[in-house]
Amino acid sequence: MSHILILPGDGIGPEIVQEAVRVLRAAEQRFGLDISLDEAPVGGAAYDLHGDPLPQSTLDKARAADAILFGSIGGPKWDTIERDKRPERGLLRLRSSLGLFANLRPAILFPQLADASSLKPEVVSGLDILIVRELTGGIYFGQPRGIREENGERVGFNTDVYSESEMRRIAKVAFELAGQRNNKVCSVDKANVLEVTELWKEVVTDAAKDYPNIELSHMYVDNAAMQLVRAPKQFDVIVTGNLFGDILSDEAAMLTGSIGMLPSASLDENRKGLYEPCHGSAPDIAGQGIANPLATIMSLAMLMRYSLERGDVADAIQAAVEQVLDQGLRTADIYTEGTRKVSTEEMGAAVAEALARG
Ligand code: IPM
Ligand code: MG
Repeated sequence: MSHILILPGDGIGPEIVQEAVRVLRAAEQRFGLDISLDEAPVGGAAYDLHGDPLPQSTLDKARAADAILFGSIGGPKWDTIERDKRPERGLLRLRSSLGLFANLRPAILFPQLADASSLKPEVVSGLDILIVRELTGGIYFGQPRGIREENGERVGFNTDVYSESEMRRIAKVAFELAGQRNNKVCSVDKANVLEVTELWKEVVTDAAKDYPNIELSHMYVDNAAMQLVRAPKQFDVIVTGNLFGDILSDEAAMLTGSIGMLPSASLDENRKGLYEPCHGSAPDIAGQGIANPLATIMSLAMLMRYSLERGDVADAIQAAVEQVLDQGLRTADIYTEGTRKVSTEEMGAAVAEALARG
């Protein structure tokens, strides 16, 4: 039996996760999966209940689970509370405590959505990029960090730090994954200014020696940001550190028409993982039933593929998503004229039905 922990979180999190669970139930039925589901609070919801965005009980359940399906966290309600108790800290502690260092963020353009992209269809059609973001190091976790008084004013500071072993292990993940795709890795750095990424470039170059079939290139992050909107199809796998990966993955998401379409997997050394949509909690539309559940549903597909080793189930979920897009169903964020605007629940139900039909 596989144990899956559901962490709905805040904002639109509970609505979209509910639809992913609906799809999971349909997958269970069709494929006869043996799955136990549990749920726990995280983020602002957990803070409201327990005064902690990652209560010990939630962390214990996360450690015990085979995989975690995560919604989204955060919202204006918790923006001004003590920094260590903010919802985002809960997610960061979860990633760090579980050693989820490899964040996979695919940006794939569905042909049905070529018109929803803010770029010209010919620039994005056929787009299939995988961003591999280091997730438990870099400036997100480096010490020292803080805000202190200095000469009568406040000074804010953070530390961008990566050890060789941290750089090498994420590079290996990128090379391995590229080997299953188009054999190209572009490592993104700012080696012309930052020592930490000068070393990154050196270590990634060295790690590439074990992968003679992979074509490795390097790009400064400012140029990469530009190339992503200029000619995104030049990329296959992009590997980068925590902060650059955060920024570039939002940019890549937008190429696909909506950040509501981008799933992600965060894996540890043993492929145990946390799966979450790349978008945030969208407090402005929470509770209205209009959020796009597809990123979360495709995160479930990644969960099947990577943690449960059920590529067949993942493919079937993916196919069901394509089917509803073919039928013209669209949530507001991907709606274009001539298609049918549907709610979060209608979208989830349609995918579940398509999956059940097979
Ligand atoms: C993401 C998010 C998080 C991050 C926030 C919510 C802490 O933006 O997963 O990309 O910065 O990693
Ligand atoms: Mg982000």
